[in-house]
Amino acid sequence: MNTAANDIFTGTVFVKPAQGLVNDAVVSVPGDKSISHRAVMLGSIADGVTEVYNFLEGEDNLSTIAAFRRMGVKVEFVKTSAGEAGCLRINGVGLRGLVEPDDVIDAGNSGTTARLVTGLLSAQPFFSVITGDETLRRRPMKRVVEPLTMMGAEIRGAKASSRLPLAINGNGAKGLKGIRYRTPAASAQLKSAILLAGLYAQGDTIIEEPEKSRDHTERMLALFGADITVERGFIRVSSTNSLNGCKIRVPGDISSAAFFMVTAMLLPESSLTISGVGVNPTRTGIIDILRKMGGSVEPLNATAVSAEPVANIICKGSSLKAIEITGEELVPAIDEFPIICVAAAFAHGTTTISGARELRVKESDRIAVMSECLTKAGVRNTEKEDGIIIEGSNGARIRGGRIDSHGDHRIAMAMAVAGLWSVEGMEINGSACVDVSFPGFFSLLDRVRAT
Ligand code: S3P
Repeated sequence: MNTAANDIFTGTVFVKPAQGLVNDAVVSVPGDKSISHRAVMLGSIADGVTEVYNFLEGEDNLSTIAAFRRMGVKVEFVKTSAGEAGCLRINGVGLRGLVEPDDVIDAGNSGTTARLVTGLLSAQPFFSVITGDETLRRRPMKRVVEPLTMMGAEIRGAKASSRLPLAINGNGAKGLKGIRYRTPAASAQLKSAILLAGLYAQGDTIIEEPEKSRDHTERMLALFGADITVERGFIRVSSTNSLNGCKIRVPGDISSAAFFMVTAMLLPESSLTISGVGVNPTRTGIIDILRKMGGSVEPLNATAVSAEPVANIICKGSSLKAIEITGEELVPAIDEFPIICVAAAFAHGTTTISGARELRVKESDRIAVMSECLTKAGVRNTEKEDGIIIEGSNGARIRGGRIDSHGDHRIAMAMAVAGLWSVEGMEINGSACVDVSFPGFFSLLDRVRAT
């Protein structure tokens, strides 16, 4: 079992107030979490070897590796040798080569593992059970169970099949059938679960989304040679006989870079370059939102690597102004809500975020937890059912204080950033959870701080 799941509520880090940033610092952030997950999943069901460079060795991604190892896939970390970068090597077993797991699959804290792997398991000719840690077992699964059941999957689970653990009576032998499905909300996890099942289904599977969620699955499926098209908002995948293993270079995670963008923005006269960051347009909402707040953030020298755009991001100390943020603007910045709240806490004026109801069912109830944390740090705010209203400090330091991450990695990191521009500093309880997506976060934050 994945023991990390029990550790995310532990650990304490104290973030001291900072004076500024190291001059013209250049940092890179770990590989993209979403892309790293998908590389393991597609590499496992492809033919041949897939090598993944800059793979994120975060707890969530290790849960995905553990899941596929349980289904007989050999996945190994190849260490760096003279002149060659290390990588993750996956020995693909082919679309029909996964074997029945001999125990429950544990997705740990990872919603992406739970939902996407459920899609894949639905199409296998064997029985399986998937579960997760205490927080993941509270998160909704009905959104994937419903369309997969329409495709012919047989899934039973806790709370009328709406929560983990889920037992999947693999229907691969009888065969799934393709569906035409409009997702009730923009969700890449939901879309991807259906697409993965669609690889095995009879006929086309066609998905339409109310707004476009992150499209890493579509891009990577095409890279592996799947029969997939995206036209006028409709994503179509057909059953495929085989996928081809490939080499993938994972860009830096823009969701991790976001903490350093806001760090640079808050500290006066800073200039910081974050190199090699993924700037897929379905993920760059944070850049648009920070710019709308008056922030100086500029992606430069974009290139395409493994079907994903990558750029260096230059950020500078900025005077931020309050804005209104809608649900639509949040779709490409869905994981950045905590750090956007922190940016708002320092802005001139009162920021309102609306249409963010989905944030209540992330790794924590991010609306309630951010409201609690900001209050504890001396920032006046009002929780709304679908968002939050935050009174900015007009660029001044906030008071600081002691907060609890509730085991949510992005809350811990966002509040650490807030601590840099505070009077008393910030004590982060439950700091160990940052390893879910950003091992080494606190030391990198320390490295860029001027002494
Ligand atoms: C993810 C999709 C998003 C995001 C999550 C990662 C993915 O979730 O919040 O951190 O890798 O597909 P939803 O699909 O629930 O919006």
